[in-house]
Amino acid sequence: MIEVKNISKTYKAGSELIKAVDGVDLKIDQGEFTSIVGHSGSGKTTLLSLIGGLTKPDSGTVVIDGTDLWSISDDDLSEFRNLKINFIYQFASLIPTLNVLENVMLPTAFSKSDEPFEDYARELIEMVKLTDKVNSFPSQLSGGQQRRVAIARAFINRPEIILADEPTGDLDEETESEILGLFHNMNENQKITFLIVTHSTDIARGCNKRYRMSQGVLKSE
Ligand SMILES: Nc1ncnc2c1ncn2[C@@H]1O[C@H](COP(=O)(O)OP(=O)(O)O)[C@@H](O)[C@H]1O
Ligand SMILES: [Mg+2]
Repeated sequence: MIEVKNISKTYKAGSELIKAVDGVDLKIDQGEFTSIVGHSGSGKTTLLSLIGGLTKPDSGTVVIDGTDLWSISDDDLSEFRNLKINFIYQFASLIPTLNVLENVMLPTAFSKSDEPFEDYARELIEMVKLTDKVNSFPSQLSGGQQRRVAIARAFINRPEIILADEPTGDLDEETESEILGLFHNMNENQKITFLIVTHSTDIARGCNKRYRMSQGVLKSE
């Protein structure tokens, strides 16, 4: 379970103070599928990075499965993150010199698990419908295909929580609905918890819980 209590984050831009996240409370149970919508600049990306332990809040707490993220050491925090959480960003950042299979498997290079990751990587590549591109390099793929590789990669370490920041932004409708189908499949079959920032009303409609963010403040819809 994710329990966010009264977190705030203010940025300094010159002499100006920007309250990007302003006293947000949020509770997400394991296996929930939650969306946040909001205008650009409303604080969505900042909130995801606070929840995912990438940015330290000025005040408030983020507790995930009983662990208060900002009360543990940096090393423990990165280990905790690696075990539990994965991010999907709007822009795929694939390694240009690695093929599709190698890109998807890259995160397992640091894994202590002895799971046969290649089989799972091939399964994920099939789920994102890129089996025929398994040996292709990123430069040989369309933008949408590259995004699907990045999405397959996000699941390889079997995270419990996926934090996705506009994962289908600027994708065509068909690809978006395929990716959405994959997310729901992962949510139902593997009980992965999803928190998705999105502009898509289709994505928001399929969520158990919906929130709107406005000027750093989160409200239930
Ligand atoms: N690193 C930063 N330094 C200064 N201001 C920032 C930084 N990151 C975000 N902001 C500001 O915080 C506000 C919220 O940004 P962001 O969380 O990216 O919103 P969203 O994802 O909803 O577009 C914006 O006004 C943005 O300009
Ligand atoms: Mg953003």
